[in-house]
Amino acid sequence: MFVFGTIVLVLLSDKKTKEMSTLNGKVAVVTGGNSGIGYASAKELKEQGASVVITGRNAERVDAAASELGVKGIVADVSNLSAIDDLVEEVQSSFGKVDVLFVNAGIFQPAPVGQISEEMFDHQMGVNFKGAVFTTEKFIPALNDGASIINLSSVNAYTGMPNTAVYAASKAALNSYTRTAATELAPRKIRINSVNPGPVYTPIFGKTGMAEEDLNGFAEAMQDRVPLKRFGQPEDVAKLVAFLASDDASFITGGEYNIDGGINVNPLLS
Ligand SMILES: NC(=O)c1ccc[n+]([C@@H]2O[C@H](COP(=O)([O-])OP(=O)(O)OC[C@H]3O[C@@H](n4cnc5c(N)ncnc54)[C@H](OP(=O)(O)O)[C@@H]3O)[C@@H](O)[C@H]2O)c1
Repeated sequence: MFVFGTIVLVLLSDKKTKEMSTLNGKVAVVTGGNSGIGYASAKELKEQGASVVITGRNAERVDAAASELGVKGIVADVSNLSAIDDLVEEVQSSFGKVDVLFVNAGIFQPAPVGQISEEMFDHQMGVNFKGAVFTTEKFIPALNDGASIINLSSVNAYTGMPNTAVYAASKAALNSYTRTAATELAPRKIRINSVNPGPVYTPIFGKTGMAEEDLNGFAEAMQDRVPLKRFGQPEDVAKLVAFLASDDASFITGGEYNIDGGINVNPLLS
């Protein structure tokens, strides 16, 4: 009797999980999915039922993450437009049309005003703005009507945080593109939104070349300024991404969602 009851409970909870899998049958592409927020989001989208493709720059890192996640990995540098063309072609030939496009790949290269090099400007704009825009541009014909595009921006789009002038501009430009695209893609019921995280605990800061001591000092000072007194975790952002990807968000487009522990509303907190 007890065993029978347990089996019924397991079957019911499995049925509930499947009913709750809001992304069943959807195809999702996550750029920069081998690390940080992209990795956590690919995991969440898969857990919610989607077939997921992740991309990244480096074959070894992409393959390792794809096999950990049990998803398809494709190498595609978003700063190379023909690589995005190849990506679209490969995704379409393996999966058909796409329902969720998470434009997440990005880099952070801090530098003070007065010391911004052309190379640094081009690289950061090339990945965070041009790469993001052309990811969407090139995927548009491969999207199903009713698809959801999510652009990973930053609260920096609206702040004057030292050393972030070009990074912040790249994200502000992306949010501007998001608003116009929302209007123009609406006739196809394609939704496009921006997510603006505050500080999130990912490898991005370690890739800046800053010394570990400086990084730790920066992290401590930053954490102290967040009203909720912690960095976000990639999984926090992944939940929001999965919501915006789902049909539960079907009346949301052209929006921007801060996910930042409150830092945006209390810049004067010490
Ligand atoms: N962490 C934060 O506090 C924070 C806050 C606000 C916004 N964001 C944004 O969140 C997004 C994800 O960053 P993250 O924090 O998760 O950092 P991350 O762990 O460094 O992940 C970034 C991902 O983007 C990939 N990538 C970088 N350049 C690329 C390119 N040219 N082509 C394809 N893929 C590329 C990286 O691949 P590699 O492994 O090759 O580097 C990596 O997979 C970025 O757009 C970032 O600006 C982060």
